[in-house]
Amino acid sequence: MAKREHWGSKFGFVLAASGSAIGLGNIWKFPYIAGENGGAAFIFVYLICIAIVGLPVMIAEILMGRTTQRNPVGAFRKLSGSKFWTAIGGLGILAGFIILSFYAVIAGWSTGYMIEALRGTFSTLGTAEQASSHFNSLVGDPTWMIGFYTIFFVFTMAVVYLGVKDGIEKGSKIMMPILFVILIILMIKGISLKGSGEGLVFLWKPDWSKINGQSVLIALGHAFFTLSLGMGALMTYGSYLNKKTNIPTAALQIVFLDTLIAIMAGVAIFTAVFATGQDPAGGPGLIFNTLTVVFGSMTGGYIFGVLFFVLLTVAALTSAISLLEVVVAYFVDEKGWSRHRAVLVLGLLVFIFGIPSALSFNLLAEVTYNDMTFFDIVDFIASNVLLPFGGLLISIFVAWIWGFDKALIKLKDGAENIFRDRPLLISTFKVFLKYIAPVMIFIVFLNSISLLESAIEQVKNYWIILVLVIVILGIILSRNRMKK
Ligand code: PFF
Repeated sequence: MAKREHWGSKFGFVLAASGSAIGLGNIWKFPYIAGENGGAAFIFVYLICIAIVGLPVMIAEILMGRTTQRNPVGAFRKLSGSKFWTAIGGLGILAGFIILSFYAVIAGWSTGYMIEALRGTFSTLGTAEQASSHFNSLVGDPTWMIGFYTIFFVFTMAVVYLGVKDGIEKGSKIMMPILFVILIILMIKGISLKGSGEGLVFLWKPDWSKINGQSVLIALGHAFFTLSLGMGALMTYGSYLNKKTNIPTAALQIVFLDTLIAIMAGVAIFTAVFATGQDPAGGPGLIFNTLTVVFGSMTGGYIFGVLFFVLLTVAALTSAISLLEVVVAYFVDEKGWSRHRAVLVLGLLVFIFGIPSALSFNLLAEVTYNDMTFFDIVDFIASNVLLPFGGLLISIFVAWIWGFDKALIKLKDGAENIFRDRPLLISTFKVFLKYIAPVMIFIVFLNSISLLESAIEQVKNYWIILVLVIVILGIILSRNRMKK
């Protein structure tokens, strides 16, 4: 077997993992869900979710990867020896495959909008209605959709093709600073606009009345997606680390950068939206329908528009490569394929699988199942089912099956100074990983699938019970086997 690739440095790993975490979730989704759910109050709840669930699960994932030096399937197999847990690793690979297929569709919009910005289209869009009809005419055109989807995909494959150090790490070292600088420029521009204060108030004034069970669940669900947790992306990246890396501090840095970028994007977007008198409640259309009008009407809007869509596309690209890497690592480790072959074959397969998602906005828009297009269905299955389910099982696995104490011994490699003489830190981490994280994720999971209830009214009770029975049996059996 070829020697396993490794990151050139811890810094390179942190940048690549932050690149995975920072994506459409931060720049497209976070600002509008924060805006809809109480601004600063929501951000506060979100920070708590990140700290008590996101961080422990992230540490667990990276640790599993580093300890086994394997993709998620190999990692679970090596640590458990059980078929059940190996299959859970397989779900991660499947999730990577599915998420990439529709993530690249949205990233394709962003790529296309980069060209729209360059062509100066935004200055012709005077109102949100015009912007949204322009958006609809673009996504309604199959050639436009497939074209930019393809371009984005080719870039993603090219980076992964070049390898861990020469592709992903080098790419992140170029793209992440670009992303950061552009965001700072956009934020300064936003704040300097007349009337931007209202945008800051909107984002920072806590509206506690909006916080309820539902918004807490949204915050927790988003914490998972935005940190790339629950499907082994960071496990795979962790598998290219050597034993001397300090995992807790690396995880803290990744979480910090991810949160910082999301908040900076919120500031950049809402200051500009308020200063130009647009509606902040644009929801998912906030970027494509509202922001384009904002760029059309502000001075220097041409260049800021171009910069913004470069930012969004770069952020999406560094996330997409981590999704493809999960699938590729599996074929390299488990099937003995060369990286190049795995990238070409699997890249092509994911690409083909994503075509119906790209066509869900035009040719296949009418082809629905319970009012959900193909795009909606795969998004739902991956984001609402596979990710929380995966996160739940990863935290259960590390804390209960592998065993917290054994995992802790491995975690101390490279992090001796953090844990030395700090029993309180250790027991806090233990409580979070063993109890708080699984329970909270389980609640999110149940909430996520109850959305499905109305859609598949008939079968729901049976399959949920069936899945739960299989999971509980699997956990019990694999625990018994490990004790032997
Ligand atoms: N974290 C990415 C975002 O916020 O856009 C999305 C993502 C990437 C999720 C990679 C999962 C993953 F494995």
